[in-house]
Amino acid sequence: MTTSAYQHAFQQATDTPDSFWLQQAKQIHWFKPPNVAFEKDANGIERWFPDGELNTAYLALDYHVENGRGDQTALIYDSPVTGKKAQYSYSVLRDQVAKCAGMLAALGVEKGDRVVIYMPMIPQAAIAMLACARLGAIHSVVFGGFAPNELAVRLEDAEPKVLLTASCGIEVSNVIPYKPLVDRAVMDSRWKPEHVVVFQRQEFPANLDNARDADWSTLIEKAAPHDCVPVNATDPLYILYTSGTTGKPKGVVRDNGGHAVAMKYSMSAIYDVKPGEVYWAASDVGWVVGHSYIVYAPLIHGCTTIMFEGKPVRTPDPGAFWRVCDEYNVAVLFSAPTAFRAIKKEDPDGVHVPQYSMSALHHIFMAGERLDPPTLEWVESKTGRAVVDHWWQTETGWAISANPIGLETFAIKPGSSTKPTPGFHVEILDESGQRQSANTQGFIAIKRPLPPSCLSTVWRNHDRFESGYLQQFPGYYVSGDGGYMDEEGYLFVMGRIDDVINVSGHRLSTGEMEEIVGAHEAVAECAVVGVYDDLKGQVPLGLVVLKDGYVSVSGDIEAALVAKVRNEIGPVACFQRAIVVDRLPKTRSGKILRRIIRQIADGESYTVPSTIDDPASLEDIRQFLS
Ligand code: COA
Ligand code: AMP
Repeated sequence: MTTSAYQHAFQQATDTPDSFWLQQAKQIHWFKPPNVAFEKDANGIERWFPDGELNTAYLALDYHVENGRGDQTALIYDSPVTGKKAQYSYSVLRDQVAKCAGMLAALGVEKGDRVVIYMPMIPQAAIAMLACARLGAIHSVVFGGFAPNELAVRLEDAEPKVLLTASCGIEVSNVIPYKPLVDRAVMDSRWKPEHVVVFQRQEFPANLDNARDADWSTLIEKAAPHDCVPVNATDPLYILYTSGTTGKPKGVVRDNGGHAVAMKYSMSAIYDVKPGEVYWAASDVGWVVGHSYIVYAPLIHGCTTIMFEGKPVRTPDPGAFWRVCDEYNVAVLFSAPTAFRAIKKEDPDGVHVPQYSMSALHHIFMAGERLDPPTLEWVESKTGRAVVDHWWQTETGWAISANPIGLETFAIKPGSSTKPTPGFHVEILDESGQRQSANTQGFIAIKRPLPPSCLSTVWRNHDRFESGYLQQFPGYYVSGDGGYMDEEGYLFVMGRIDDVINVSGHRLSTGEMEEIVGAHEAVAECAVVGVYDDLKGQVPLGLVVLKDGYVSVSGDIEAALVAKVRNEIGPVACFQRAIVVDRLPKTRSGKILRRIIRQIADGESYTVPSTIDDPASLEDIRQFLS
């Protein structure tokens, strides 16, 4: 029997992981190539390429300039919300990043220091990230749709020397001044960065009236270009906070070496894209997709990347994605299913699609949430392009399962993200940790060690890494998602089995929302669940029991709760519905039956558990939600 290319790679990564990954490591340039693929350090932390030295910004820019790509476009900025477009060659981008690194160095930033970046989708955000990487400093990007409180939590945890921001972000119908949000966050945070550097945008310049404020352009003008600082492969490149089950987000730590190797490998094995081609991830640098596939992987691979400051719809119409693919010869487009549902909603017949030839486009990738079969079918039929669903997480930084088209293309099964990527040993486990048979749902777990790029720890909280991911099933990383594998090894990811929900492909914690809602003076107890939404996939719904003596007059308490979540998490939470109920359904031991609340809200059938305290409480909920 002949072994397929995928089977061959998967088997090698399983049987001889050291030689497989050392081989992949040869695809990037090291200042000191690694001889050791993998080891556990003194604290038991799993490390890739522990004796290697490199610099990620060097790989992304200087390497290409030194190897004949200096004049190729590295980054395209397309901003329908401002009407601006710009292109940066590899040489120009390298020089701007070197100056930005010089600016940071002049502010005292050194290898290992943290820099928080709170910026919209402008080239300066990518420049800032790469400048940190150039210095060996650790960046932590905070998505612009988060409120000051979320920024403050991240400042306190990451303790950055410098905060880089812009004067405003621009949404479809409004300009969002960032500086007041930043000032508020710095005021509320126990940790104060020494400097707040603001990139002024003409749409809404900011007042730089605090002693720590500085103007980006003035500093850059004075800055001397800074060279790449060699770092250990195991040194952190960035911290990216992601929602867990509590109000405190988890700081996922990504190393330099494993990340660079995985990024490089993924561009050919998963995306089948060649150096020189245009790769577009329509996401935001505030999310892991933006880190991996707007900034690092396309540049490390020598592609052209696109920063799109717009939306799939209303900027100006639902043809925006097709226009960008056509105008810049995009070979691979990557976004979340919700983006295509938004396009489909406004252009159900796809009349905008044939207006653009998109002749270079060969594949459309999707992730961030389950790709529902109707959206898959619509995109395939309207564009005539192959659509690939792939499943991944902030924690891994790249796809755990995909149709690995660079190795081999499998027939698509709607609802499945196809096969585990070489290096990821995915197993479906039951509650006691036993492997499930084919087609039986369970916890999706990954056998350790995890492959390169996956998180090695949670920033300054290794116990949380152990307790949140590793302790439930010894020898495995537990993904937080549930699903099954069929008899052909196709993986079906069915959704989260914890308190995390995906709203417009954005990962949010219902536990955090409950903490915020529950802290309102009128609230005795509450439950927040993610309910089905035909555009955003899921949206949060809050059920609230009021304390004795409180009455909601004309919905004033509900409105206050909606405003509270928006103020404390941000508009991106999309918490727009709170309902006051008399009681919540619970088990006799007091556990709120959130799953059943969600099933009632979604009109699904459900089984009443024998442990329910008061079955009539379910009838109440049904009436409130009807
Ligand atoms: N800065 C400030 N506010 C932001 C923001 C940002 N970077 N991003 C979103 N927001 C705001 C929006 O303006 C909106 O505010 P509103 O309540 O005042 O209207 C709110 O947060 C909710 O945003 P969103 O969920 O994105 O809804 P939307 O209606 O603006 O757009 C989509 C819906 C589907 C078009 C949009 O979510 C989208 O393009 N998604 C693409 C997928 C994606 O990027 N996924 C990330 C992981 S791959
Ligand atoms: P994030 O860390 O923000 O990337 O979110 C990761 C979570 O998004 C996963 O744990 C899944 O719940 C969900 N997710 C991402 N991609 C997919 C996919 N292709 N299919 C199903 N769920 C997905």
